Amino acid sequence: MRKPTTTPADNVSVQSITSFFFCCFPVILFALVQASPIQIPDLTKCQVASASSASGPPVTLYFNCCLPIIGPIVDFSFEKYKPIRKHIRRPAHTASEEYIAKYMKAYELMRALPDTDPRSLKVQANIHCSFCNGGYLQAGVNGDIPLQVHFSWFFLPWHRWYLYFHERILGSLIGDPGFSLLYWEWDDQVYGGNQIPEMYTRVNTSLYDEKRRVEVQPPTIVPLAASTPANLSASIVINQNLNNMYQSVVTASTATLFMGGAMRAGEDLSNSTVINNPLGGSLENGLHSAIHYYVGDPRTQLLQNMGNFGTAARDPIFYSHHSNVDRLWEVWRFNMPDGERFDHTDPDFLNAEFVFYDENANMVRVKVSDALDGEKLGVYYKKGRSDNLWINYSPPASTNESAVPVAVAAGVPFVGEERLNGTITIGTNFSAIVRRPSEKKPSKKLEVLNIQGVQVAREEFVALVAFVNIPWAGESTATNSAEYLGTFNIVPSADKSKHLNVNVKYEIGDNLKRIGINEEDEVVISLVVTGGSTNATLTIQGLKIDYEDQ
Ligand code: C2O
Repeated sequence: MRKPTTTPADNVSVQSITSFFFCCFPVILFALVQASPIQIPDLTKCQVASASSASGPPVTLYFNCCLPIIGPIVDFSFEKYKPIRKHIRRPAHTASEEYIAKYMKAYELMRALPDTDPRSLKVQANIHCSFCNGGYLQAGVNGDIPLQVHFSWFFLPWHRWYLYFHERILGSLIGDPGFSLLYWEWDDQVYGGNQIPEMYTRVNTSLYDEKRRVEVQPPTIVPLAASTPANLSASIVINQNLNNMYQSVVTASTATLFMGGAMRAGEDLSNSTVINNPLGGSLENGLHSAIHYYVGDPRTQLLQNMGNFGTAARDPIFYSHHSNVDRLWEVWRFNMPDGERFDHTDPDFLNAEFVFYDENANMVRVKVSDALDGEKLGVYYKKGRSDNLWINYSPPASTNESAVPVAVAAGVPFVGEERLNGTITIGTNFSAIVRRPSEKKPSKKLEVLNIQGVQVAREEFVALVAFVNIPWAGESTATNSAEYLGTFNIVPSADKSKHLNVNVKYEIGDNLKRIGINEEDEVVISLVVTGGSTNATLTIQGLKIDYEDQ
């Protein structure tokens, strides 16, 4: 159930308002001047997006994702877009033949529209391409800074809006205002959701895409970490998947850890220098991006279609994949055992604006704040039948005492927030000893590991896997135990400088408790670089453990 939250500010007395005015007005004024939500870009200035590979035969793919301009832009309002019927999204693997036929028909019609029509699959895919491959520059800022909707708090609301209009377009093409997307329930490890939904594998239908990885066709279970070695038994993959769900959704309880960190106008993902800078959330970095990797086709350049952001949305499975991402956002908000969780409330988050096309091919301006209540948008999800399995997953520890003494004896370096001789190159794996905060953890805070300033050229897929208490962890270290912290799956794409510079954060208090080393002053953190490319150079700037607000 959702209830409006009242804040103490509702009851402030007149006197306190007056004194507040004198003390804090200049501060507020400053804050107003500083407020910088992302605005919709100037669509007349479109850049041709590109992505290139670093190894193998060098290739650069140019994506002309420029969007048709159909003015004037109208503002979204709940009144104007009142849902005629509820959109109840259900799991794809349980859909009836009748519903699948309808779904196919809708995509058939969408594919048949001319490329100039904003409702065509071509333009729908270009919307995604242009806001993740540097197709447009941020408006109202100094310098040429690409607009990027991944790797920050915008990931979830932007994609929610994207699905919202996509669903309305499909519905209007088949004349069914109640048409609802089906979600690919890849977190379901019990009833068959963890395979590519069969409906998408039917050759010669509108749901089929031949650029998909052959090795993960059904009945193969799709792993939820792209670091999973091939040829593992089904039961191991299932436990790894449950642990990935647990670590990415259950223990990532804050908006920052789960949704991602702040991104304001003028910030440049490819060129950030602030140590506290961009941060993708656990749902995006881990689970979501692993699916992109596994569906993408390694026979093509840059894992087309799903495996790079420039082409991902050309595959209709993209929209079912993202429906599950969107569903998990709801599950995280409302269905966790410890109670309701909360989205970001920062005005630069709430007031950010994006542009989409509606079912009448009009351009619509939307705000993040209007996307935060899915049911208000008319979108409902059937409760996942197997959610409780990962919500209640209890990862077993594979170690039971601190690995610090062994690591010290073996010369494993100490790494703090100060850089160790500049940046640290991870190679294929790297271990370090990291100090925990010396004061006791306040009950309202979480203990969080920050892998600071991860830098990588986003030219190929690469995964950064993190463990605690396993010195010399490597590619084959199992990820079903309490020592596993998470995976940052880096999907290829291309910004101006083709570099990503972000932080990666994991809640680690739960892990330390399960291992039984939560009284130690220091812990061993290990990072493993794996995935498609072994010669990707990945560097970090530091490792820091801190208490962060819930
Ligand atoms: Cu915009 Cu799944 O990515």
